Amino acid sequence: MSNGKIYLVGFGPGAQEHMSFRARAAIAEADVVIGYSTYIKLVQDLLDGKEVIRKGMTEELDRCTEAYDRARQGRIVALISSGDIGVYGMAGPTYEVLLQSGWHPGDGIEVEAVPGTTALSACAALVGAPLTHDFCSISLSDLLTPWPVIARRLDAAARADFVIALYNPKSGRRTQQIVEAQRILLRHRAPDTPVAVVKSAYRKKQSIQMTRLAQMADCEIGMLTTVLVGNSNTFMQDGLMITPRGYANKYDGVTGETLAGEQAGRSLSHGLDGWKMSVRERLLRGESSEAIARHFDLPVIEIESVRNEESKDV
Ligand SMILES: C[S@@+](CC[C@H](N)C(=O)[O-])C[C@H]1O[C@@H](n2cnc3c(N)ncnc32)[C@H](O)[C@@H]1O
Repeated sequence: MSNGKIYLVGFGPGAQEHMSFRARAAIAEADVVIGYSTYIKLVQDLLDGKEVIRKGMTEELDRCTEAYDRARQGRIVALISSGDIGVYGMAGPTYEVLLQSGWHPGDGIEVEAVPGTTALSACAALVGAPLTHDFCSISLSDLLTPWPVIARRLDAAARADFVIALYNPKSGRRTQQIVEAQRILLRHRAPDTPVAVVKSAYRKKQSIQMTRLAQMADCEIGMLTTVLVGNSNTFMQDGLMITPRGYANKYDGVTGETLAGEQAGRSLSHGLDGWKMSVRERLLRGESSEAIARHFDLPVIEIESVRNEESKDV
């Protein structure tokens, strides 16, 4: 019997044209396609002549076990998921089930993960360019993650001024998590921070609401919604949500000329080396580490490490 194979396929946000060639080829090659029933519907036209195993929302581990069982029978299996299967998807549980069952890479059954466009990229593309600077994603689902973990991450991400993509923001039963998230984010972000609420991106019922953080929780939000919360520089103009890349820190917006003290192709004057120099100057002026730390909104230990570097160099 020939060895089976498991493809872990992320087919993107939903529309056929956003599915990768590799995802399409993997589904075409598979004898067996396993997925949540809604996902199976989205790739229906690729399923002729295949064994199709539809599973419900709560049967995730069953999907992994079925995939492994079929692969052990020598079948080619495509386990499918929307977006990227490695982002809040089935890739993790499948590897966990396989490893717990004694499987090892190179053992006979090959596993290939096929990346897809995840919801945050799909939603961002529909509203402008909100993710052009540092961002993070946080799932508001407390089905498998304790709320204090989620709350701590929301607080840290908001404090660190990340653009934040909220996955799984709300469901029929989980209605208060988005309200709590809004309250936590408002501790560190202005009420008029731009927010995009994107539902069913690249699917038939796609809808987009552009709003502000203070109104975020009042929007229509459901299971298929991703919420993008801007950072302190994100702006909304002509219906677009844009997070500046940072060119204004170095170049004049009108003339395009490099600003005084900056150099094209080099770190900013307040990049790592420049920042350390300015910390040393402040220390030499007699400022305390605590005051410098407060000025830069950094832990005191960061200032102390510059001080220690200096004393090592002497
Ligand atoms: C279990 S996660 C799966 C994420 C998926 N693996 C991905 O990479 O996009 C489900 C969440 O993804 C987001 N999502 C998935 N598809 C979406 C779409 N087409 N439009 C907006 N959000 C979507 C929603 O936040 C939803 O609650």
